[in-house]
Amino acid sequence: MYIISNLVKNTIPNYLSSLPIPDTFGGWFQLGVRDWIALLPPTIAVGGISYVSYQTIKKSREAGQINPSIRKDINKVVDFIDIEDITEKAVLCRCWRSKNWPYCDGAHGLLNKITGDNTGPVVVRHKEKETK
Ligand code: FES
Repeated sequence: MYIISNLVKNTIPNYLSSLPIPDTFGGWFQLGVRDWIALLPPTIAVGGISYVSYQTIKKSREAGQINPSIRKDINKVVDFIDIEDITEKAVLCRCWRSKNWPYCDGAHGLLNKITGDNTGPVVVRHKEKETK
């Protein structure tokens, strides 16, 4: 524990205070080659940490999305199906994996097998037409 405590309380602050960071904007133009070389490691460290953080946040955000591929170029996927166009029934996808969106093509079966989920389509039907 002493090593971490000493690192946080002494080593890192001493290292940061020794960096040739100018007090004014114009001071950046007066830095020498040695100064710029001294600034490289912390710049690379901050850039690397920022990049890894960005990638981690991006991946976790994508992992929370239900729609992996359907019309990702638009803000919201909305479909209209006129009830008059449904002859007997319409089987609509709820798993967002159908290649025939918004209709179910059975892709939920593979998704359920992989994830252990139980997702299935919603079936919209005409009761009157179906019973006739
Ligand atoms: S393919 Fe998505 S619910 Fe069937």
